[in-house]
Amino acid sequence: MPGEDGSVRVALLGCGTVGSEVTRVLIDDADELAARIGAKVELAGIAVRRPDKHPELPQHLLTADAGALVESDVDVVVELIGGIEPVRDWLLTALRKGKAVVTANKALLSEHSAELAEAAGISGADLYYEASVAGAIPLLRPLRESLAGDRITRVMGIVNGTTNYILSAMDSTGAGYADTLDEASRLGYAEADPTADVDGYDAASKAAILASLAFHTRVTASDVHREGIAGISASDIAAARLLNRTVKLLAICERVQADDGTESVSARVHPVMIPRTHQLAGVNGAFNAVYVEADAAGELMFYGQGAGGAPTASAVLGDLVAAARNRVAGGRGPRESAHAALPVRPMGQTPTRYHISLDVADRAGVLAQVAQAFATHDVSIAAVRQRDRTSTASLVIVTHSAPDAALRATVEEIGKLDVVREVVSVMRVEGEDS
Ligand code: NDP
Ligand code: HSE
Repeated sequence: MPGEDGSVRVALLGCGTVGSEVTRVLIDDADELAARIGAKVELAGIAVRRPDKHPELPQHLLTADAGALVESDVDVVVELIGGIEPVRDWLLTALRKGKAVVTANKALLSEHSAELAEAAGISGADLYYEASVAGAIPLLRPLRESLAGDRITRVMGIVNGTTNYILSAMDSTGAGYADTLDEASRLGYAEADPTADVDGYDAASKAAILASLAFHTRVTASDVHREGIAGISASDIAAARLLNRTVKLLAICERVQADDGTESVSARVHPVMIPRTHQLAGVNGAFNAVYVEADAAGELMFYGQGAGGAPTASAVLGDLVAAARNRVAGGRGPRESAHAALPVRPMGQTPTRYHISLDVADRAGVLAQVAQAFATHDVSIAAVRQRDRTSTASLVIVTHSAPDAALRATVEEIGKLDVVREVVSVMRVEGEDS
């Protein structure tokens, strides 16, 4: 319940890129927010690591002791610090004491959502984290609430702006990965340490959160198959261009049905070739876009700014308003469910399609040897295109869907054939060819 004066007291943990925007709105738009919520939101304290570095903030609210602020008389804890510890401990404390928690922390949620949800369930507190995936885009609430009566079969999208910026730039300039990453860092799109983005960790955390909500199953980041973009070369991008395709780092979460009808969940993050006519191909720069497919709703697409202080603050504030309204009403909002508890399908058993580009000797019988490798692993070929060079031929093969392990084994075997001079590019493909 709100405090004695009817206000909802908020503790803000972290006041950096996102937290400073949240603070600005809480102070500048206090009256408007109070009117929407039906109660005043009182910023009770702001925890930062170095209070002396924040002369711009109301000094009487600042503290370096986030733990004490959480324990104080507050109704809602908004966490915008990031990382696992000590944040996990603080948020568990808050939830166990019945305080609502709003967070943008995908790293924490993708590994510890089960214990956080359990603590929230026992005390009856709200746990909201809309900002943790795709920044400003309203995506988690639609999955949890608007689509709660439907059966979601697939969630696929671009959920990392840094890698999308790099791949878009490689596609438009023809430059290599290292040069483009340097440029992205110089322009401030990539962080000083871009590992979490370029190696796919950030997208894998988001995929885990999306799969958990979509399929009512706890999926952690370690369940998500992860490949980053560091291995993407200018020749991969050129090979895609020849097929009227482009390369994107996609998070793909699917409900997979086996022949006997049993269901499992597949969650993966890796570079993918998609047709230039695909709607995700037109998502460039640091933007995010996510496709959702559901039995009754059909295809839905969510698009917008996936990062940045103000866009991310929009999602945080939406959660804060929801939590505050619930407090005023004396209840809690709809909670997610993990009742389906579907098994997570290993990547090797997940059906995918490959694009393989080879330089081969240009003589009789070569195609037959290559085709035999596919047949050996029971992989069906969908299309073959050959272009002659002086002494070699360039062979491009696109497969039908097959278990990923079979496709990998096929590529390995092809690489060992004497007639294959070079495996130029191997990438998974999504979407129909136009
Ligand atoms: P920043 O690094 O800009 O800010 C982090 C804040 O946390 C700083 O104010 C810092 O204090 C404070 N802090 C760090 N350690 C402590 C501590 N031990 N006790 C108290 N305060 C501490 O992070 P962002 O704003 O970029 O990100 C915040 C969260 O939002 C993360 O979980 C991130 O993944 C998520 N997010 C961020 C997006 C973005 O575009 N930036 C997009 C979507 C999600 P000080 O200022 O004194 O250093
Ligand atoms: N580093 C992330 C990105 C920020 O590039 O999309 C948003 O989570």
